[in-house]
Parts: sequence; C-alpha cells; structure tokens
Amino acid sequence: MWDDLKRLAAAREGRRIDALFAEDAARAQTFSVEAEGMLFDYSKTQIDAEVLEALLAVARGAEVEARREAMFGGAKINETEGRAVLHTALRNIAGVPVEVDGKDVMPEVLDTLSRMEALARDVRASGVTDVVNIGIGGSDLGPKMGTIALAPYHDGPRCHFVSNVDGADIADALKQCPPETTLFIIASKTFTTIETMTNARTAWDWLEEKGVSTEGKFIALSSNAEKAGEWGIPASRVFGFEDWVGGRYSMWGPIGLSMMIAVGPENFRAFLAGGQAMDTHFRSAPLEANMPVLLALVGMWHNQVLGHATRAVLPYENRLARLPAYLQQLEMESNGKSVAMDGETLTFDSGPVVWGEPGTNGQHAFYQLIHQGTRVIPCEFMVGARSHEPKLRHHHELLLANCFAQSEALMRGRDLDEARGKVAGKFEGAELVRQAKHRVFPGNRPSTTLVYPLLDPRTLGMIVALYEHRVFVEGVILDINSYDQWGVELGKELATALGPIVSGAESAEGKDGSTRQLVAFVQRNT
Ligand code: F6P
Repeated sequence: MWDDLKRLAAAREGRRIDALFAEDAARAQTFSVEAEGMLFDYSKTQIDAEVLEALLAVARGAEVEARREAMFGGAKINETEGRAVLHTALRNIAGVPVEVDGKDVMPEVLDTLSRMEALARDVRASGVTDVVNIGIGGSDLGPKMGTIALAPYHDGPRCHFVSNVDGADIADALKQCPPETTLFIIASKTFTTIETMTNARTAWDWLEEKGVSTEGKFIALSSNAEKAGEWGIPASRVFGFEDWVGGRYSMWGPIGLSMMIAVGPENFRAFLAGGQAMDTHFRSAPLEANMPVLLALVGMWHNQVLGHATRAVLPYENRLARLPAYLQQLEMESNGKSVAMDGETLTFDSGPVVWGEPGTNGQHAFYQLIHQGTRVIPCEFMVGARSHEPKLRHHHELLLANCFAQSEALMRGRDLDEARGKVAGKFEGAELVRQAKHRVFPGNRPSTTLVYPLLDPRTLGMIVALYEHRVFVEGVILDINSYDQWGVELGKELATALGPIVSGAESAEGKDGSTRQLVAFVQRNT
C-alpha cells in the first residue's frame, strides 16, 4: 500500500509547493475542509489530486468507515484487552443508546455526569479555595490541558495538578494550599499507579500533620471502586467509569472533574457538546470532506510515505501550552506500536514523534532548525480568529500575522539570489556568496493550519475529538491496536524491583554494570 504512494512521492520529488499554487488558483479551497466552524487547510503540502485520491483509497481499503461504526457501536476493537472503545459515549449527552455486551451504557454515563455536576456545584459554592488533582498520564494531562485552555471561563476554586512522583511536585503545590479549604481529587483509572498513590498518601499525611480532618477532603475518580474504598474513600465520593474508557481518552468523564469544578458544569457541557459535534461530523462526512480523516492522511503522507519522523504541533494560542504534551500521550501511547493486530511485526513505520510549543515562543527557540535544518519537520499550526482579550486586539493581529508568516516562510523559503540581495552592499565577491549562503532558506517545507473562531469550551472539545479520531484513523490504516499500551509495563516492573535496591535494602548484584554504577553513585551521595 505504501509502495504506490512512495512511487507517487518519488515522481514529485523536487516539485515546489508554491508552484502548485501558481498552477491552480483554487488550490487552497480544494485542499482544505471546513467543519463545525473550523477550517483545516492542508494546501501548503505536496498533496495534489492524484496523491489525495491514493491516500483516500488507502483509507477505503482499510475499511475506515466500517471500523469507525464498530467503534461507535461498542464492538471490542481493543482486542488485546478485550474491551470496547467508547470515550465517545461520555459526550453523547443526548443519551442515544450505546450497547456493550447487550447493555445500554448511557443511563450510567448520564447518571455519573449528573453526580459530577452536583458535586461541582457544591464545591464551587462551599468555600473550597483549592482543588488538587492527583493523577498522572491520562489522569492528569487532559484536565490540566483543558483547565489552562479555558482560563477565561475559570471562575471556580484554584486548581493544582500534581502528577510527578518527584516530591517537588506535591511539595510545591501544597505550599500554595490552605489545608482547611483544599479538596484532593485522586484521579486514577486503576487506583494502583505508584506515582498517584504515593502522592495521595502524602496529601493525606499532610492534612493529618496540619491537624485537619481528612473526612470529606478526598474524592476518587476511578474504574476501581473497590481499591478506592480500601484506600478510605466512601462509595458516595467515588466517580466511576468503565474499562472502555482509555486513560488518554478519559477527560470527557469523571477524570475531567477538576476542569468541571474550575469552569462550571455548563461550560463543561459545552466542551462535551463540541466533542460530540466532531463525532457527528466524523461519522457522517464522506471521507474526502472528513476533517479527522484528512488530518490523519496528511500525517501519514508525511510520516509513512515521505519518511518525516516527527511532527511539530504549534498552537498560536498561549492557553494551549499543554496541548502538545497532551497530544504526545494521545498519539504516541496510542500509535507507538510495532506489532500489527495479527501479531506480526510491522514492515513500515508506526506513529511519528509528536512535539511542540506555543508560537510565537517557539519561533525564538527551535524554529531555526525547522527552517534551515537538514531534516524536514511537518508543522501543524493552529490559531483562533479571535482572542479573549478584545482590548489587546493588536497583540492578536501580531499573533495571527506570525502564525501565517511561518507557514508562508516554510513554503517559500529564500533562494541564493534573494539572499545575495540581503547582503549586497555589505560584502563583495566570494565573501558575499559565502555570507548569502548562510541566509538561504530551502523552503518547500510542508505545514497545515487549523483555524477556529475562538478557543471556547465547545471549540476545545472539537479540537480534542478531532485529534482522537485522527489517531483512530491512523491506527486503522496501520492495522495496529491504538487502545492498549503494553510498552509502558516493563519499566514499571523494573522500577518496582529497583526500589529496594536504591534504598539499600537489597543488593544490586545481578544488575548490569551501568545500573550498578548508577545505584552506587547515588548511595555514595545520599
Ligand atoms: O502507564 C501508562 C498509563 O497506564 C496511562 O495509559 C494512563 O493514562 C496512566 O498510566 C495513568 O493510569 P491510571 O489512571 O490508572 O493511574
């Protein structure tokens, strides 16, 4: 499948993207899609009509549409764990029945949502000043990213997010919290994650040290009500969800509670509605006009076909500062696999390395490499047409201008002649050429841009769901299971075994030389 596309790519080698615009006045409109008020423009790439048709054929061949219906319909597409994949049910606020094993899951989903709303209203009205969400991975990245993104809507208590087992994380958070008015939310699907349980215990001990009762101070968000109960949290303070919600897909349900407390239940519902709007689009739009499908295919053209191993996510939206980190888990934990569904080793690359930072900051840090480095890094820009600071309109105009300028610069570049013009008068002869060469930008570097009217709760929901479905489409085409994460297990097992070795309770004998040396250094310096 990739061979045909690689042939198409080879035939286009050296062709300039800007020339494509010169040839086709309607290129921008042809290679872009609008859905739910957002515009995704992928025209500044090498994709042309023939390439797009071939990419769509790959999606059709992989039966993306049938697999999509299987996911929405509650089939157990997470085959290595025997689970359905139904985070979409969490934002199905109309309650349209969704069955797993013949049982409609919606009554319970909606019941949990109303319990969360009642609690959020209570907390917001009760004098709680600080909420500390203790969780890691999917139990941290989503609510943290979302709470920062929706800062203009944040009218509830202050929110802190503690994830790292590095004691610095919880120590720094607790310094800011009055013990009498702080609520702790322990967010862990399994309720066994060592980082989270260690931080939770530290929070408990801190309250006791401060002489403040722990009663009513802890809430659990978990699929494991039993473990939460054993830990000391009564059932009435546990918000559960089923195993068909993957950790990195869980911010739509109980794991989103801290964000709901921050922005209020109405705004949280708008976030859910945005996700659901993207679901409806994804389920109903033809593949060639389907935003998540096109986002996925553009990504695969760059990674699997052209071999660009990383992609940069560059939000020109300061409040999306944690979106790249969120997407790192979403995309890399989902599609960082090397085995196909049938257990055979993949013969092509799986997901790319995803990274990024908000613009314009990145421009003054790592864009140098994006513009002039030897490797091509496809860039995904995103920006809102409006900001929440109408009085600072000039800031926003500069932000927009910078965002659009970057994709233009990446595409156009600057050739030697133009570069010579820049230094003419300052240098002469061979020195002029030498100096000019350093100022050449190769250009022809691909990027996409997502534009939305304003980063409000609904738009945030649309963006997150857009990326979730992109991951799904890529996973289907790669024929991998996007919903397990066995690759994180080995490190956890070894860390458990190393604990007593690091503390000196057990000998390091039997470990490799490097590990023994590291442990010995730490022990000498403890
Ligand atoms: O170790 C990876 C992982 O299982 C993620 O998939 C998950 O989001 C994170 O750990 C936290 O897990 P839990 O919510 O069970 O504490």
